[in-house]
Amino acid sequence: MCQCCAEKKDIYLPQLATVADISQMNATEKYLRLSMDDGMFDFLPGQFVEVSVAGIGEAPITISSSPTQTNGFELVVRKIGNVSGAIHNLKQGSKLGIRGPLGSGIYPVEEAKGKNVVFICGGIGMVPQRSFINYVLDNRGDYGEVAILQGTKSYDLRLFTSEIEAWSKRGDVQMLETLDEGDPRWKGDVGVVTKLISKVETDLKTVKILVCGPPIMYKFVLMALADHNVPPENIFLNLERKMKCGVGKCGRCNIGPVYVCKDGPVFTAAQMKELPAEF
Ligand SMILES: Cc1cc2nc3c(=O)[nH]c(=O)nc-3n(C[C@H](O)[C@H](O)[C@H](O)COP(=O)(O)OP(=O)(O)OC[C@H]3O[C@@H](n4cnc5c(N)ncnc54)[C@H](O)[C@@H]3O)c2cc1C
Ligand code: FES
Repeated sequence: MCQCCAEKKDIYLPQLATVADISQMNATEKYLRLSMDDGMFDFLPGQFVEVSVAGIGEAPITISSSPTQTNGFELVVRKIGNVSGAIHNLKQGSKLGIRGPLGSGIYPVEEAKGKNVVFICGGIGMVPQRSFINYVLDNRGDYGEVAILQGTKSYDLRLFTSEIEAWSKRGDVQMLETLDEGDPRWKGDVGVVTKLISKVETDLKTVKILVCGPPIMYKFVLMALADHNVPPENIFLNLERKMKCGVGKCGRCNIGPVYVCKDGPVFTAAQMKELPAEF
């Protein structure tokens, strides 16, 4: 698309995409690989799309693949209601609508170059983080030491297990994983993800830390990182709010003066301290 057409693009008009691949990951999550019918889609790690299913509605979903991947882009959708339920019913070759990529507050792709990077993921929080993780690994020479911490409630809810296994076999990544609940099939750590923070071999005071998970996890991760004297400017958290327009127009997602859709969804802990509400 030329610059002129891109500028005139209707921000409310979904573009058609095709489901290239779809599969069940566990009891609640489905993986989808999509390709845009016009072949146009450039995004950065941390951005999301509004996914629409004809006759049902729209839902914001984060892009889970890295922009370095060229055969379409990937989403992981948890079945929770109308739209996500309709997305779960799609088949290979089904059509859906995509608005985006959306969000300007993204992962610190440039700022983190030359620095050590630590990812802290809780449950489905791995989904957005995976975009930046794979970006960093595909541009490995641009970044310093890398640690990935994953906490999941139970064995059967683990996501991207073969990718996690591959990361743990690399000599240039420290992969740490824990389950909240023990399981006879699980030989690793048991406990919440914060338990892993003290095992990170990199000096936390100087790293860029990317965090995504449920709100309760943020509270305890921030407390643990404060104990390690990590400056709030170095902590990046992915926020989730109910959204409608996704482009800063309807006021559904705002926290005080900040629109999570337009200004986020990724914010530093320093930015969050300035927000008027609990997140
Ligand atoms: C920026 C952003 C990125 C997201 N990325 C993903 C993703 O990668 N994968 C994924 O599975 N989900 C993601 N979500 C959540 C997803 O958008 C909601 O689950 C979806 O909109 C639910 O729509 P529905 O029509 O299926 O459910 P509905 O029928 O609308 O709602 C079902 C229930 O879920 C609650 N609910 C709906 N939306 C939200 C929300 N945003 N936060 C909290 N509760 C909600 C409703 O109150 C209701 O109780 C993201 C949300 C945001 C804001
Ligand atoms: S969703 Fe409409 S302003 Fe953010």
